[in-house]
Formats: sequence, C-alpha cells, structure tokens
Amino acid sequence: GRTAAVIPAAGRGVRLGPGAPKALRALNGTPMLVHAVRAMARARAVSLVVVVAPPEDAAVAEVRALCADVTSGADVVVVAGGDTRQESVARGLAALPADVDVVLVHDAARPLVPVDTVEAVAAAVRAGAPAVVPALPLADTVKQIAAAPPGDPEPVVATPDRSLLRAVQTPQGFDRAVLAAAHEKITVAGDGATDDAGMVERLGEPVVLIPGHEEAFKVTRPLDLVLAEAVLARRRE
Ligand code: CTP
Ligand code: MG
Repeated sequence: GRTAAVIPAAGRGVRLGPGAPKALRALNGTPMLVHAVRAMARARAVSLVVVVAPPEDAAVAEVRALCADVTSGADVVVVAGGDTRQESVARGLAALPADVDVVLVHDAARPLVPVDTVEAVAAAVRAGAPAVVPALPLADTVKQIAAAPPGDPEPVVATPDRSLLRAVQTPQGFDRAVLAAAHEKITVAGDGATDDAGMVERLGEPVVLIPGHEEAFKVTRPLDLVLAEAVLARRRE
C-alpha cells in the first residue's frame, strides 16, 4: 500500500492574531502551508498529500492554486475542512484512495519539520506500530491547577514528574484502519480532540513515541513567526 499525508490547514489562527487564516500566512515570502506540503512531499515514503483547507470556497481555491505550484514527487489533493481540527482530519481521511494503508497526519502549523523526522515516523508504522508520535522532553515544569474564576490566581493541585512528560508533535503516523476506526467511534464534545493519537489511545490501541525535533515546533503565537523565519534564514530556504 501507499503512505499518504493529511495536512489539517483549516484553522483560523486566533492565537496568532488578526489576518489571513494561519496556514496562508507567509514565512519568508512563502505560505506556511506550502512549506508544510513540501516537508511531507520531500519524504520518499509519502506519495500523496491531502491538504484540508479553510472551508470557504475562496480559501479552497487559493489553496488549490498554491498547491498546483508545488513541484514535488507526490500527488496533492485539496479538500474543505470543518469547524474543529478533528473534523478537518476526518474530511482528509475520507478523501484517501483505497490503496493507502499508512497515514501521517501533519499540522500545517508545523511547517519546518525535518524530512528525517517524517521518514522516521513512517518507517516506525511500516515496522508494525499502529500509532507513532514524535515527541520531546519538556523544558518547563508543569503545574496542574483547579478551575478558578477568570482573572483570579489559579490554585495549584499537583506537579507531575517532568521526567515522565513529553510534548508531542506531528506528523503522527498511523495504520490507516486504526485511525479510521478512532475517527468513526470517538466523538468529542466541544472543540474536539487536540491530537489524533489521543483518539487512538481512547480506542485502547497502543501509541508509541519516537524522538521529535526542535524545528517541528508549532507556529501558534506571534513570537513563533519570528523563530520560524530565523530557522528558514539559517537554512537559506
Ligand atoms: N485545524 C484545522 N481545522 C480546524 C482547526 C484547526 O484543520 N477547524 C488545523 C490548523 O490549521 C493547524 C492544526 O489544525 O494546522 C493545529 O491547530 P492550531 O495550531 O490550533 O491552529 P489554529 O486552530 O488555526 O490556531 P488557533 O487555535 O490559535 O485558532
Ligand atoms: Mg486551534
């Protein structure tokens, strides 16, 4: 079977501040989404990329035009996304042809993931793991809090052992049938699941971590744009 990448890119980017949808914002002159598509298509394992665009007709058309200009070894298909990340991923999965048996789900908001990380995730799934996630140790200590009224100081409930915590990245790689089953069986109220592996965990399937990469960080807030452009300048892309 083939390996495909699904790139959820339908988010607004509220935390980045006002402007175009996040995936269409430029990094050193090139939309974040184009960097992300290239990062997936560059991997030898990946032969198809499904991009999940903001659902408005104009955004889908713009994303299609941008993707048509990406010359790569992989086919690129564009579909419209949904209100939550989970819904957007589900729409991407629904667009996969029958011969795809391994799926990588990769945030458009992680445009600079190195190709070696992508290949390592795909290889670990091919080697038999149903769900594989790149992850890094945390730099900060993490506190668990109790809910408090907005503006009030938040009471600390616990300090989990940092050495046992990991921050997870994408691409997350899956046996296609396992990920499809998770998306069919798990419905989450509210904003939906924040990662696909979490849904697979709730199915009771094993999820394993492999080393992530600093450059696979998520562009979330304005300072992340500064960091991303500095990384690109260092690479001279
Ligand atoms: N995403 C999506 N569909 C949604 C929401 C998010 O495809 N309805 C995608 C985003 O485009 C992004 C990835 O999921 O590539 C990770 O989400 P996040 O970093 O939270 O991006 P946004 O939701 O766009 O940002 P924010 O939460 O700040 O609005
Ligand atoms: Mg979001």
